[in-house]
Amino acid sequence: MILEVNHLSAKYQNSEKMVLNSVSFLLEKGKKLGIVGESGSGKSTLTRILAGFHPYVSGKVYVENRMVKASIKDRNWLSKKMQLIFQNPLSSLDPRQTVRQILEEPLVNFSSLSAKERKQKINAILKEVNLQTNILEKRSAALSGGQAQRICIARSLLANPEILICDEPVTSLDMTTQIKIIQLLKNLVEEKKLSIIFVSHDISLVLELCDEVLVLKEGRTVDYFAAKEWGNVERHPYTKELIESTKII
Ligand SMILES: Nc1ncnc2c1ncn2[C@@H]1O[C@H](COP(=O)(O)OP(=O)(O)OP(=O)(O)O)[C@@H](O)[C@H]1O
Ligand SMILES: [Mg+2]
Repeated sequence: MILEVNHLSAKYQNSEKMVLNSVSFLLEKGKKLGIVGESGSGKSTLTRILAGFHPYVSGKVYVENRMVKASIKDRNWLSKKMQLIFQNPLSSLDPRQTVRQILEEPLVNFSSLSAKERKQKINAILKEVNLQTNILEKRSAALSGGQAQRICIARSLLANPEILICDEPVTSLDMTTQIKIIQLLKNLVEEKKLSIIFVSHDISLVLELCDEVLVLKEGRTVDYFAAKEWGNVERHPYTKELIESTKII
């Protein structure tokens, strides 16, 4: 198992209320887990815990059989294994940096490549995310949402992660761009055999994209199933409600 979460409970400092309550799931290497649930159900908190940015009250989190917590040591270790892609790509990029500087960073931090090799890598990754090399000298503030998300994806891939965590990666983009970015992520993840956690409000998208689905409601697991088998048994009423609501939209 690349990820194992057992009875995880977590809260924020300013309140006694648990925002995650005994959540458990497994992620096998190379598999895709979708996490769905309405706003406030604890999806982003869960991703922050997995990356070592937020502490938990009880339960266990294992990444490649190592128990991880929100410590600097674990965070450093996790940063070599795991990359995160967020909802708002422009706020994940430093507006003063050029695209080239942004893409150089993971290569300088995580590899010992020469300047020439780094250049080659950057040109190759731009092709993979369908961008032209003339974007390299642009500052990130000048990018469109779709271009910025492609750069965030490229930056993540250059760090050579095993696990990719996407927290609503297309929510801030227009519909056409959403479809293109999803297709891009789908191709890249399959090609690179990444393990992925894909957080979304959209259960239809998750059913199409992922192997397994975890449904959260108010911090609790209400459903957990293989995407292929979703229609085989009567689903939890809340899961059905989510499916119905995506049909209307
Ligand atoms: N920094 C914070 N301090 C206190 N409470 C917080 C903080 N961030 C989130 N929460 C609370 O934790 C709960 C879970 O929030 P979280 O952001 O994980 O939900 P989410 O499922 O990602 O929602 P969304 O779909 O809107 O992104 C919510 O009740 C929220 O109000
Ligand atoms: Mg969120």
